[in-house]
Amino acid sequence: MMYTVLLPAAGSGKRMGAGQNKLFLELRQIPILIHTLRVFEQDSKCKSIVLAVKKEEQTFIEQMLIKHHITKVVAITEGGAERQHSVYACLKSSPDQGIVLVHDAARPFIKQVVIHQLVQTAEESGAAVAAVRAKDTMKKVENGIIQETVDRESLWVIQTPQAFQYALLEKAERLADKDCFLGTDEAMLVERLGEQVHIVESTYDNVKMTTKEDLLLGEVILNKHK
Ligand code: CTP
Ligand code: MG
Repeated sequence: MMYTVLLPAAGSGKRMGAGQNKLFLELRQIPILIHTLRVFEQDSKCKSIVLAVKKEEQTFIEQMLIKHHITKVVAITEGGAERQHSVYACLKSSPDQGIVLVHDAARPFIKQVVIHQLVQTAEESGAAVAAVRAKDTMKKVENGIIQETVDRESLWVIQTPQAFQYALLEKAERLADKDCFLGTDEAMLVERLGEQVHIVESTYDNVKMTTKEDLLLGEVILNKHK
């Protein structure tokens, strides 16, 4: 089954503290955004890519796509104030009503095998998100005091990609928008409709480039795989 990927890239990277969109920072002389785009450019099951960008960065990004021979971007739309708004803007520009994948442009190390598992699960059941098992002991804390130790067996750390049948994500985004509900991921918007969201086990190196330390980690991951 083919899919379309929606890539929100309209953030400002405040926690990275680079004074520019962190997606323009380079790992091995290639911008993070291009690393991520290459995964989908090279995946024969990906038929199109939709990007959300900041208006003032659009021309720069278009030039970047040409320079790095990225050919599958079919739409570039203006992102919003929050990530969820950027994803919704992408969805509205999606040419595909089949399986859509939402993926943070800031996660360049996603593996094809995980993507394909997500697409298959979403096809069968509606919604699937990438996740890894929590490694550490997790406790619920209030005002600096431990309230309880949460059973780690039931805890998963959620990543992107998150894959959906188009109609389900469209409904979830539309209702969240109507209710002014802001979720931290797309799954949350689907969960509030009472729909089931499946987990697909991903890899620990599918990290999001968020702070300076992640860039060092990114170099290590690249050395390991490429
Ligand atoms: N994003 C977006 N539109 C926003 C905010 C974020 O498209 N209004 C995108 C980012 O570009 C990134 C992804 O969503 O690819 C994940 O967001 P995050 O890691 O939080 O990136 P930033 O928002 O850029 O970083 P920060 O929160 O540190 O400012
Ligand atoms: Mg952010």
